[in-house]
Amino acid sequence: MRNDFEKAIRFRHACKLFDAARAIEPEEFTFILEAGRLSPSSFGVEHWRFFVIRDTAMRQAIYAAAWNQAQITTASELVAVAYKKRVRSSDPFIQSAFDRFGYPQALRGMYADFIDPRSDEVLECWSSRQVYIAAANMMSAAASLQIDSCPIEGFDRAAVEQIMGIDTDLFGVALLIPFGYRVKEQPPRMRSSLEELVQYL
Ligand SMILES: Cc1cc2nc3c(=O)[nH]c(=O)nc-3n(C[C@H](O)[C@H](O)[C@H](O)COP(=O)(O)O)c2cc1C
Repeated sequence: MRNDFEKAIRFRHACKLFDAARAIEPEEFTFILEAGRLSPSSFGVEHWRFFVIRDTAMRQAIYAAAWNQAQITTASELVAVAYKKRVRSSDPFIQSAFDRFGYPQALRGMYADFIDPRSDEVLECWSSRQVYIAAANMMSAAASLQIDSCPIEGFDRAAVEQIMGIDTDLFGVALLIPFGYRVKEQPPRMRSSLEELVQYL
């Protein structure tokens, strides 16, 4: 192994079952959330909101709405990675982000020209793409601490959003990430070779 990052990316896999008796230390979980917070996002506007679901009944209901995937109920922590929906230049969240960064008028204008004409559907897609970057960083950060994770898109989104009771005018849930400690050995990786995946032009 060349370095700790290589160790982490080789350690990470989509863990299907966690040790329900083993809890993540609070400072380690905070480090994972920090890796999400410090992630890059288009125009720096941080399209994400991380909902940490600790309520047992809520978890159980999400489990039923997520194809009964055992990761949901056995993980030490469950994070719903959500994206923001109101991202046009006039929306309060964007205005306050620009004020905080001290963005000049020219950059605000660029944002308005680039973003505002798009449909709600296209903007939702744009916003949700950003949060996958944060999600990947959180999973890599977890792996660097030998903490397992599993990205989960296999769930009924409307049902999960309703169970969580979030304001769906403002947020949509992109994916669920349970974090915890594996019970089973990690299976061998079936990846394509670099030759198949990389094309030099
Ligand atoms: C966006 C996304 C959604 C996924 N959804 C699920 C899921 O619902 N359930 C699951 O067990 N794995 C899910 N996975 C995990 C993939 O199946 C897994 O990453 C892939 O098979 C490669 O295996 P590895 O991550 O162990 O290397 C998802 C992965 C991604 C990136």
